[in-house]
Amino acid sequence: MPVPSQIIVLVGLMGSGKSRIGKELARLLNLPFIDADREIEKAATYTISEIFERFGEKEFRRGEKEVMLRLLSGDAKVLASGGGAFIQPEIKALIKQKAISVWLKANLETLVNRTSRSNRRPLLQVKNPAERLRQLMEERYPTYAEADITVVTDQQKPQDTAWLIKTELDRLGQDKETDT
Ligand code: S3P
Repeated sequence: MPVPSQIIVLVGLMGSGKSRIGKELARLLNLPFIDADREIEKAATYTISEIFERFGEKEFRRGEKEVMLRLLSGDAKVLASGGGAFIQPEIKALIKQKAISVWLKANLETLVNRTSRSNRRPLLQVKNPAERLRQLMEERYPTYAEADITVVTDQQKPQDTAWLIKTELDRLGQDKETDT
């Protein structure tokens, strides 16, 4: 059975591939793709870096919550969340209630490689970004592990990971059918 019309939320650390894989998955499922960070920037009319710089992380988290709550009460879509969204208890609870969550799990080397190509992530503008990512893995991986589906993204092309997620979503849909 194909996946029912749903909100699919991709969660995971910076550099785990949420946007690239999300776009591929949206194409496969014929759903719109939405990037939560871009929606936050649109709503604030500032970039993520500017929000952190001018207003601080606490205000960013407030805006992130507002935008995520709006996106989660809308139509079916593939939604790439910012790395900290699923860590906010209120956002996580709503994702659990309204969406299917997919954790894109990656190892430290992958995350360091993928994030070193850009300087648009305020949390990584530190002396030792690899150490910061390692700390975030330690803090956040137990929470990401609560997602409905986990896929490891290290050695795979975004298209292949998207196919894998689709297979897992189909399986989840079938399990739900047999439960009822
Ligand atoms: C953050 C991740 C970023 C962005 C912000 C904070 C985080 O999104 O929301 O810089 O707390 O992990 P990406 O995961 O899309 O880079």
